[in-house]
Amino acid sequence: MKIAVLPGDGVGHEIIPEAVKVLQAVAKGHFVLDLEYGHIGMSGVQAAGKPLPDETDALAKRADAILFGAIGGPEYEQWIRTNKVRSGLLQLRSNLGLNANLRPIKLFPELASVSTLKPQVIEGLDLLILRELSSDIYFGEPRGPVQNASGERESINTMRYTESQIRAIGHVAFKTARQRKSKVCSVDKANVLETMQLWRDVMTEVGAEYPDVELTHLYVDVAAMMLMRAPTRFDVIVTGNMFGDILSDEAAMLVGSLGMLPSASLAPDGRGLYEPIHGSAPDIAGKDIVNPCAMILSAAMMLRHSFNREQDAQRIEHAVRSVVGRGLRTADIMDTDSRLVGTKEMGDAIAAAIPT
Ligand code: IPM
Ligand code: MG
Repeated sequence: MKIAVLPGDGVGHEIIPEAVKVLQAVAKGHFVLDLEYGHIGMSGVQAAGKPLPDETDALAKRADAILFGAIGGPEYEQWIRTNKVRSGLLQLRSNLGLNANLRPIKLFPELASVSTLKPQVIEGLDLLILRELSSDIYFGEPRGPVQNASGERESINTMRYTESQIRAIGHVAFKTARQRKSKVCSVDKANVLETMQLWRDVMTEVGAEYPDVELTHLYVDVAAMMLMRAPTRFDVIVTGNMFGDILSDEAAMLVGSLGMLPSASLAPDGRGLYEPIHGSAPDIAGKDIVNPCAMILSAAMMLRHSFNREQDAQRIEHAVRSVVGRGLRTADIMDTDSRLVGTKEMGDAIAAAIPT
């Protein structure tokens, strides 16, 4: 298993070692990990003068899978703006053709009391946000500042989708739903945006090829409300790049913390990048307080999707659940009778909970 490991910036440097620790515990006696590290984000700028150094790009392309920590921070954002380049993560997503971003929102019952929602609203919660990752307003051209007759500053971005891009993510949605509860809810803004009318039309066409899967449509504003009101009604939510970004942070609150949510970004050729949904959190970086669970669960997704090792993925997921169940908690998921632990202690406990 050749894995490109890209810690990135901020808390990325703290969560990656914990995920590696857990992977090593799972691998012991079963398989061999070949890890190769690379710089990205501000660490790429510092090491090689750009957010996605050529070496890292090449490493990512030759690896079987990529474990990605997090990038960002005020210094990085400023650098990106000044140098007018795209963030290293967006370059990587685009260079590797990662179009399907799987964001499972699954509640560990042990954490129900940590959620800001009532326990009865989230009981049994297990939904998947499938975010299209390669297009939309994130990549649409034209973009940037435009000449304005009155001299006022003006800037644009373009929401764009081609039929084939929508079709591709649509097939992933319906195929994934078949392995779950066979329900797809497509989220758009077809009442206002032409791009989203195309989205709805194509989703409906693709849906017709899967008569065994239920397809419903919601406007994004209603979907945002429904996620808070009755989240357990959802199975697979398929949506565009921008709406998926927003809805997944909202959905994180259902399970207690952004620190619990992993993700997988997959390309049609099977390539995969695995990263927590949260960012580099510069405000808490370097303090041994960040929750490593999202990163560790991302490593589990890597074993599942890139290496077809479902049982090993579940060994990791069970270990996380058992440690959280025993009341070991980082600050973000702290509860009244739990014991507060740091990032490293949490990682150690999860690695130790992996059955041999
Ligand atoms: C995410 C993040 C990224 C995004 C940022 C860091 C570019 O918010 O993966 O959800 O907007 O896609
Ligand atoms: Mg986001």
